[in-house]
Formats: sequence, structure tokens, C-alpha cells
Amino acid sequence: MVSELLRWGAARLRDLPEPGREARRALALACGANGVLPPKLSPLEAGRYRRLVEARARGIPWPALEGTTAFLDFEVFVPPGVFIPRPETEELAELACRVWRELPGHPRALDWGTGSGVLALALARARPDGEVWAVDASRRAVAATRRNAQRLGVRLHVRRSPSFSCVPGQFHLIVANPPYVPSSCIPLLPADVKNFDPKRALDGGPDGLRWIRELLGRGPDHLVPGGFLLMEIGRDQRERVLRLAQTAGLWVEARVLPDLSGKPRFFWGRRC
Ligand SMILES: C[S@@+](CC[C@H](N)C(=O)[O-])C[C@H]1O[C@@H](n2cnc3c(N)ncnc32)[C@H](O)[C@@H]1O
Repeated sequence: MVSELLRWGAARLRDLPEPGREARRALALACGANGVLPPKLSPLEAGRYRRLVEARARGIPWPALEGTTAFLDFEVFVPPGVFIPRPETEELAELACRVWRELPGHPRALDWGTGSGVLALALARARPDGEVWAVDASRRAVAATRRNAQRLGVRLHVRRSPSFSCVPGQFHLIVANPPYVPSSCIPLLPADVKNFDPKRALDGGPDGLRWIRELLGRGPDHLVPGGFLLMEIGRDQRERVLRLAQTAGLWVEARVLPDLSGKPRFFWGRRC
């Protein structure tokens, strides 16, 4: 019975890159199996399985179905309306944690546009003696971050703040994965991105640089001298971002680092 269900699911999901694996994951989720699949499914579980397969066939991403996703060595809730964290942001988190661990005293960090809270949580877990703030303009993101912090037993200062408006004091490190997709490109994104991630999390304005410009222009007011800004950018934005940093005139050691596939993805700068 299970093999028949798996065959049906894989056929239904044949347009996805790994139909067999997809069907197995749906079946495991439907019956709450952890590892080994049971020989039989109850009618309730089989119905749940079919609905999950149909949802995947419509392009609904796994985190939206499971409600959670893994990030580095922890798991976060990602409710509907909150940006689903991506693997490349784990690379930004690792980079930020390396800088964060080296900072002397009791440093302060800010995660601008925290979404589900992943960057702030990674920092707070890496260094419990530091003070980590997480801000987002979205009410849902703020609620998700608070819930994730509580669940992981991590202390975060979480605020709903359109950009820097409710951010107190100066920080030693600002991390951000800001919206950087040009508005006109959003309709061209894959269905599972444009239909499930909130538009506010993606939309970087007419040239994609609206929030990057804000972070480069206003970030220095919120950094101590020598403080770091580490920020994810679009893969075709390197030159424009470095030009913006130069124009702002407040950054030293400004550079863009590649991700694991060699694409230029992470702005690194220090406040003068
Ligand atoms: C690409 S998502 C990144 C979320 C999370 N940091 C991550 O990497 O998974 C961008 C986030 O910025 C938030 N955002 C958009 N505009 C903002 C603004 N003006 N002020 C603060 N947050 C904003 C969105 O709500 C969204 O959660």
C-alpha cells in the first residue's frame, strides 16, 4: 500500500527535480514518521498524504507545509506571510558569527529585516554574552521571531521597526538580508517564491537597491566607529553596491565576498 502511494505521489510530482524523494517526504509528514516509513497508512493519513502531494504539485514550498525549516544547527517556525530563509543566508550567518565571536567586551548586534529571526538567533546562540536586536517592519515577522527566540531559549530584543526608526543606540555589527529584487522582476520569479514569500520581503524598489542604499547611507549612524555591516545582495549588484558604499564615503574595507558557488553575494564594510 505504501509503495503504491509512493508511486502515485512520484508520478504526480514528476515535474519536480526529485519526485521520489518528494513523495517520501510527504508520506513521512502525513503519518508523522521519523525515518522508517510504516507498512500501512490509515485512511486519515492517506488523505493527508494526497493533500500534501497535491499542494507540492501546486508549488507550495515545504516550509509552508511543515511550518518549520532548518537553519544552520537549529530549526525555526516560518508561518505564512514570513520570508522562508534560504541556504545562502546560512553562509551570511556563518560569516557574521565569525566577526561576532571576535568582538571584545559585551558587543551589540542588530539584525535589520529579521524575518523569522534566523540571523539574530544565530548570533545570540553564538555568543550569549552579547546583546542582539532584531527588527522588522512586518508584524508577522516580529511575532515569528519572538516565538522562535522563546522556543530556542535565546534572549533577543525584538522590535517592529520600519527600517531604523525604533533602533536605540549604536551597534558593533549590523547584519541584513534586505529585500533586493527590482520591483519589475518580481512577477518573473518562480511561482513558489512570488506566491509564498511576502512581497515586502522581496521588493527592493525600482532598481532593487532601495534598502541596500538605506543600510549603506543610514547604517553608519547606528554603528560604533569600526563597526561592521554584513549584508546579502543580489548576484548582479556587486559593482553598484560598491559604488554606493564609496559615494556614502563612510565605509572602509568595503568589499563583496562570494558565496559557495562563487557568486558575489555578501557586502562587507566597516564604518570609518
Ligand atoms: C529577504 S527577507 C529576510 C528575512 C531574514 N533576515 C532571512 O534572511 O530569512 C527581508 C525582510 O526585511 C523586512 N523588511 C522589508 N522592508 C523593511 C523595512 N523598511 N524595515 C524593516 N524591515 C523590512 C521584510 O519584512 C523581511 O522580513
